[in-house]
Amino acid sequence: MTRRWPLLLGLIAGLAAIYLGLATGSDAADQWGRAARWTARIGLPIFLLTYAASSLGRLWPNDLTRAIWRNRRWWGLGFAASHSIHLYALIRALQASGEERTLASLIPGGLAYLAIFLMALTSNDAAMRVLGKNWKRLHSAGIHYIWLIFMLAYAGRFAEPGKLPEASYGVLLCLVALALRIAAWRKGKRT
Ligand code: HEM
Repeated sequence: MTRRWPLLLGLIAGLAAIYLGLATGSDAADQWGRAARWTARIGLPIFLLTYAASSLGRLWPNDLTRAIWRNRRWWGLGFAASHSIHLYALIRALQASGEERTLASLIPGGLAYLAIFLMALTSNDAAMRVLGKNWKRLHSAGIHYIWLIFMLAYAGRFAEPGKLPEASYGVLLCLVALALRIAAWRKGKRT
């Protein structure tokens, strides 16, 4: 259980975001819209910790960063849990608002969900053994794609009036995590 606590954290954080949305929204569309935004917002730091876990460990090796690195599977599963809750909130938000979405608009996010679920399902030793080199390919491509979708979701908010704080929050966190990965990669090339 000790190593699994990030999974529990992702579940609790996602459910807390839903609760907050439902408790503060004015009507069903507003409630589920808030729940959708806040579940994504809370999922981002959990995702980025998974994304940057090995980089943190390489750049600043200490007990804490090594523990995060060792435990990144569970951080990833925590993110998958919180983002599954985001998916539920999205469905409720779309139902409540009656907003129609084209199939094309669902493709980028839908593919990110495919990546999230495939990665979660293969986050175990047996799948690593069976998939061999393809495991690494799947997880590397998947994690960068999910990063891209977060980045695009927040960067797009710069164009929306009044959304500067959340756009800055998301874009800044995504860029810091990317910078960590680049710095760790460069350090690895020098040594
Ligand atoms: C087909 C799948 C998806 C649909 C239909 C969808 C739709 C939505 C909707 C309706 C919102 C609330 C928008 C608002 O009220 O301002 C939202 C927020 C958001 N979604 Fe998604 N989404 C999907 C998948 C994803 C994925 C896979 C990610 C990340 C990897 C993501 C990241 C975000 C972010 C970052 C926000 C904004 C949170 C904030 O305001 O802080 N979404 N999404």
